[in-house]
Amino acid sequence: MLSHVQRYPINMYLRIAVQYLYALKMKHLDTSWDFRSANTKRTTHCFHSYPAMMIPQVAERLLTKYAKKSRILFDPYCGTGTSLVEANIKDIHAIGTDLNPLARLIAQTKTTRLDLQLLDIYLRDFSDFTSSQFRFDAEKRKYAVLLPQFKNIDFWFHRSTQTKLALIKSFIGEITDEGIKNFFLTAFSETVRESSLTKKGEFKLVRMPPEKREKFNPDSFDIIFSKLSRNRRGLLDFAAVKSNGATAEIKHFNTVSPIPDNCLVNESIDVVLTSPPYGDSRTTVAYGQYSRLSNQWMGVESQVDDKLMGGKKQVDIEIKGSKILSETIEKIADRDENRAREVLSFFADYQKSINHISTKLKKKKYACYVIGNRTVKGIQIPMDEITADFFKANGFNHAETTVRNIPNKRMPDRNSPTNVRGEKSATMKREYIVVMQKQ
Ligand SMILES: C[S@@+](CC[C@H](N)C(=O)[O-])C[C@H]1O[C@@H](n2cnc3c(N)ncnc32)[C@H](O)[C@@H]1O
Repeated sequence: MLSHVQRYPINMYLRIAVQYLYALKMKHLDTSWDFRSANTKRTTHCFHSYPAMMIPQVAERLLTKYAKKSRILFDPYCGTGTSLVEANIKDIHAIGTDLNPLARLIAQTKTTRLDLQLLDIYLRDFSDFTSSQFRFDAEKRKYAVLLPQFKNIDFWFHRSTQTKLALIKSFIGEITDEGIKNFFLTAFSETVRESSLTKKGEFKLVRMPPEKREKFNPDSFDIIFSKLSRNRRGLLDFAAVKSNGATAEIKHFNTVSPIPDNCLVNESIDVVLTSPPYGDSRTTVAYGQYSRLSNQWMGVESQVDDKLMGGKKQVDIEIKGSKILSETIEKIADRDENRAREVLSFFADYQKSINHISTKLKKKKYACYVIGNRTVKGIQIPMDEITADFFKANGFNHAETTVRNIPNKRMPDRNSPTNVRGEKSATMKREYIVVMQKQ
């Protein structure tokens, strides 16, 4: 028989082993979530690119697992509405909010069923409007069209392009059906981007080198036609799979501030599914910068980034409830105090946002957060664990964290918007899917 002294280390090792297995179970890499060869552009997901998009397959699988018999989904940072589309396909009513007008436009368009006969009438009209004779006349009359007045327009667009875009916009301005107008505006936004003098394949606004600029002569009419036809096909596919009843409401409130009941009723939500921003826009994804030219052409708010989470550096912040966050901030502060304060400002907003969102979810229901753990000053920020801590402080239990590889072809969505050289490959090879359950 073993003495107490001999038994003690065995018990200790057993306990460590059990804890380790438990941790593995609670946070595990699962390559079946990679969806390497999946079509991430199915249905209306083909509409418009955007930085750091969630992939529909992840949303779909989470909803299958955690939103059984759900009636209402809420996405507090809905972006272009990936989760909302997938919720509607499962006959779940979806509510999303985002502070970026371009994101709201795309999310609205992706979740709106249109009268296809009416759409086709407008598409035919538009084709007549941009007929070759018309184009010729219009280009000759180029200075007669009303060009928008915003700073740097000549820096980002050739004059000839401005004329074409202004003509397209004048056609859209005459559309009376709101859904169809949004459908055209969504294609217009992509056309603005592709017709601009920005370097292609980047989310940041970077101007092409001079030799490319001189030769660049985009046909904005052709560009918008190809977007419109692609999107029409996406809409048809969506109509084929979307169940009848579910709709989406796209809102414009900031979850960093308390959410009044008239925006969203307490304990009314069956599932939260979202991918939050993972840092302040100065150093990670500049959603506003990406959207600026489109927002300017559409005449909506274009200075968005400093209104987003972490957009303003705060002073005297104290965050309680996450030891791992405090330790991480200390490590960053050792290398750069200023950066540490910026990271802390972001997490102060993020914590408030989670506190407010928590009150909206029904008891026993799930919050699913798809997160990137970025690196600042060489130190990785375990945002997945910080998220779990913030939810635990609101009475949630940790259900699981699944780690997925981001396949190469998806890397630009998570990566290239970063404003920091070298952060690209180090940070975003993996995504963390954190699932929390309200007690
Ligand atoms: C990672 S993106 C979401 C992408 C989305 N899941 C998709 O598939 O398109 C994060 C979004 O959060 C929005 N955002 C940032 N701060 C916000 C805030 N305080 N309130 C609401 N939305 C915010 C940004 O504008 C951005 O669209």
